[in-house]
Amino acid sequence: MIRDGRLGTDQPTLDGPRVRLRPWRPDDADAVLAACQDAEIQRWTRVPVPYRRADADEFVTAIAPATWAEGGAQFAVVLRAGGALVGSIALFPPRDGVAECGYYTLAGSRGRGLAAEALRVLAGWAFDDRGLRRLELRVHPRNTASRRVGAAAGFVVEGTLRQRSLHRGQPVDDVVLGLLATDPRPAPDRPAASVPPGASSGTSADRVT
Ligand SMILES: CC(C)(COP(=O)(O)OP(=O)(O)OC[C@H]1O[C@@H](n2cnc3c(N)ncnc32)[C@H](O)[C@@H]1OP(=O)(O)O)[C@@H](O)C(=O)NCCC(=O)NCCS
Repeated sequence: MIRDGRLGTDQPTLDGPRVRLRPWRPDDADAVLAACQDAEIQRWTRVPVPYRRADADEFVTAIAPATWAEGGAQFAVVLRAGGALVGSIALFPPRDGVAECGYYTLAGSRGRGLAAEALRVLAGWAFDDRGLRRLELRVHPRNTASRRVGAAAGFVVEGTLRQRSLHRGQPVDDVVLGLLATDPRPAPDRPAASVPPGASSGTSADRVT
């Protein structure tokens, strides 16, 4: 279903200081296949397990374009310098101005602040260009790394939804982190802690997509 009249518009490329968020391409399938063999990605995200070649092909050729057509966006996260793939980030199709985000960083690229930077870039675009009101992360209580990524992008923990999700068939709690268009937002290259109280770069809470 096309929710926001986006037929015919191309998914943009978004730049942060170090990372570039670009649309997935069919020739990314090999890299996606390799990335999704990682135990942490399989443990904490909803990627199919086992992750096969057909899953990677479907992701880059069908799921990513369909996400865009439905009002969301799936991006490959690459280094601006050299273009190497370092991760994946998604804005899932919004409803009522609210969208969930998801991400992973390739195992060999973790611990460099890349997921946090990508999330800050995605959030800025979602609010300022897509006119969304609220972004959400739903994180397993033990996924400390992901909670810290959210915090580094300005998200705040809002609560725990008990047994809200089924993960690999098992009920799990969701820790919900939220960020509003009107909240203080760290710049793409700065940690959340450096945002002065009351400051905000958000100006488009009332924009309609
Ligand atoms: C979660 C994940 C995306 C983090 O990626 P990353 O690029 O290494 O994260 P960053 O380098 O941007 O780190 C951001 C913050 O998280 C912290 N962090 C990163 N990995 C961590 C870990 N394993 N344990 C504790 N903290 C961690 C960093 O120290 C940093 O904190 P700070 O802002 O206080 O300095 C990555 O570990 C991953 O792909 N995990 C598997 C998939 C997953 O869990 N996705 C999220 C599902 S909700």
